[in-house]
Amino acid sequence: MADVFARCRMPDTYDLVRDLGVYPYYRAVRERPGGGEVVIDGRVLVQAGSNDYLGLSGDERVKRAATAAVRRLGTGSGGSRLSNGSLALHEELEERLAAFLRRPAVMVTSAGYLANLSLAALMAPGDAVLGDRLVHACLIDAARLGGVRLRRYRHNDLEHLERLLEATAPDAGRLIITEGMFSTSGALCDLPGLAKLARAYGARVVMDSAHDAGLLGEDGRGAAEHHGLEDAVDVQTLTFSKALGTIGGAVAGPREVIAYLRHYARPMVFTAALSPPCAAAALAALEIVAAEPERRARVRAAAARVGGELAALGYAVVPSDRPVVAVPVGDDLLCFRLWRELFDEGVFTTAMIAPGVPAGQALIRVSLTAAHTGRQLDRIGAAFAVAGRRLGLLPDSRRLP
Ligand SMILES: Cc1ncc(COP(=O)(O)O)c(C=O)c1O
Repeated sequence: MADVFARCRMPDTYDLVRDLGVYPYYRAVRERPGGGEVVIDGRVLVQAGSNDYLGLSGDERVKRAATAAVRRLGTGSGGSRLSNGSLALHEELEERLAAFLRRPAVMVTSAGYLANLSLAALMAPGDAVLGDRLVHACLIDAARLGGVRLRRYRHNDLEHLERLLEATAPDAGRLIITEGMFSTSGALCDLPGLAKLARAYGARVVMDSAHDAGLLGEDGRGAAEHHGLEDAVDVQTLTFSKALGTIGGAVAGPREVIAYLRHYARPMVFTAALSPPCAAAALAALEIVAAEPERRARVRAAAARVGGELAALGYAVVPSDRPVVAVPVGDDLLCFRLWRELFDEGVFTTAMIAPGVPAGQALIRVSLTAAHTGRQLDRIGAAFAVAGRRLGLLPDSRRLP
């Protein structure tokens, strides 16, 4: 008889990577002395891997709101929203989010992952669900939970999307799933083109704004606002774990869709409601997002500066003002080595390999935040210069010892 635990063996490369001292995951942060820094293994490093883009997780106003909610309501919600875990605070947050996003209705979930997974309730076998090659794992999982195989088109390749749309059964329900700003490439979705196709083929559009809400668009509503095409997006999902600096998620869309999800989305119905401190923190953060647009401008300036510096060094980076700078490396082990060199130079980045990115396209992700100081940004550039030369990655570099 087979033992299901027999498959719990890590690949040989796992030991190799650990032996080489380049294993980049589960590094425990002890302290966060300032927004742009972390203490790991007793060393202060520049935090260049956080999605706390606006630096709000450490904001005193957000922390005060979370603390007050704990005092008033406790640390947990005590149950699912549907049964007994709903708080007036959740409802207030939903109303504020709906007003902020200019969407008829919003459903708050306990994580961004669960917001996207909830979309499963919109799917049924026979539907044509089409997603960009780089959409996040939770959108792929939504299709699995919905009993549908997600058909993936090449990243931002609308000709490929159109071919897939053409090939769908005429009476199939059609749903296109994209991110607003892709978390791994930092690229924006080609919403103008996608919107045209959706109209032509009668498809609904879901946009995951995990990495663009709070950051893009004049008022911070995300990539669709940036493109001036909010009506082209039928349902927008968010996470609170990035620009809002806490934990939680939301689905925003038409009233009847949200009402349905509140009763039929398993990741909503069968999990405990968002905790009071997280709900209060999200509410306070939302106020700041609306009131302090200069934070968005700061992140964008930091991203443009670091992206420009890395491109000038010779990394294959496309400079932009979006907060994710993706540094392509290709090979997993080389990616881990670059991560380690950067770590040794005092910069904590994110090493991404498959399945986070397509196999063979490993990359280092640098995330910029409003909390980074000029000196911290200098340190990121300097670390990449040293690390890249040491590994012989830069065109002008002789290999350093
Ligand atoms: C694009 C995208 N969507 C959704 C999520 C899930 O959000 P959360 O981590 O808040 O559950 C993430 C987080 O990594 C993400 O990058």
